[in-house]
Amino acid sequence: MSFPHHRPRRLRQTPALRRLVAETRVHPAELILPAFIREGITEPAPLQSMPGVVQHSTDTLKRAAVEAAELGLGGIMLFGVPEVRDPSGSASLDPEGVLNAAIRSVRAEVGDDLVVMSDVCLDEFTDHGHCGVLDDQGRVDNDATLEIYAQMAVAQAEAGAHVLGPSGMMDGQVAVIRQALDAAGHQDVSIVAYAAKYASAFYGPFREAVDSQLKGDRRTYQMDSANRREAILEVELDLEEGADMIMVKPAMSYLDILRDVADMSPVPVAAYQISGEYAMIEAAAANGWIDRKAAILESVLGIRRAGANMVLTYWAPEIARWLREG
Ligand code: PBG
Repeated sequence: MSFPHHRPRRLRQTPALRRLVAETRVHPAELILPAFIREGITEPAPLQSMPGVVQHSTDTLKRAAVEAAELGLGGIMLFGVPEVRDPSGSASLDPEGVLNAAIRSVRAEVGDDLVVMSDVCLDEFTDHGHCGVLDDQGRVDNDATLEIYAQMAVAQAEAGAHVLGPSGMMDGQVAVIRQALDAAGHQDVSIVAYAAKYASAFYGPFREAVDSQLKGDRRTYQMDSANRREAILEVELDLEEGADMIMVKPAMSYLDILRDVADMSPVPVAAYQISGEYAMIEAAAANGWIDRKAAILESVLGIRRAGANMVLTYWAPEIARWLREG
């Protein structure tokens, strides 16, 4: 008698067999490196809560972008940390402002060899740290914010961004940005819409990374972690408004959302493995509690398996090097 009848273990017997039947792979071309550029520094500033990640100076950012292109990464997503902030985040509109200048110098360095993406959001630029401007009661004013996003988007397109990432979760932001881009002759600049972006505790280290001035939280505009249906609504709206790609964020605590969105989206889906996800794995690895490389690769593979076509991850260059080494 032969028992058991089914032996799934057969296909796990050698590395070559496992490689043959692997359903999901990670490839450098699908990885996007988020990068911070800080105004007024000449040496990169390490981030305490994200060991291995820095706020770049212009020079080191350029080097990181060139390296990303050489490694065959899919793209780089730029975030600016300005020296001066005000209530309306006006430095975001200055063509010579930290983010717009960074876009220009990165494009000059990499041309079209790397997809240059930039964050369209006010939180790094406002002195209150919110993603939009405030009304006289201190609430985030959706429609007044849209007007600024439209100008910000045009400034970033003018600086040379290939793809814009509106991350502020204002209603109507994709439509307004698309309209403004088209009116300014930037029909070919794409939008990756942060469609399902949740109010998450895992953004903590990012707030250090951009010297966030935020007191309180973003729960009136970012989504509630309890909600799944709403993610589909947000994606549908962003698609209707003209999103070329959509994003789910964070990644690891929202893999179900990612799967739902991947199943219904007719456009490419990105997932953002955020600062807190990075910090957790680094901290556990530093304590010797997990195998760092294996955990990183498993985490990104899981995000891909859940349906992401692209993954924004601070480990993108390191993963690409591992993949190259085999
Ligand atoms: C907002 C923005 C945030 C992140 C990317 N864009 C922070 C927030 O919503 O508070 C977080 C990224 C990360 O945590 O790695 N512009």
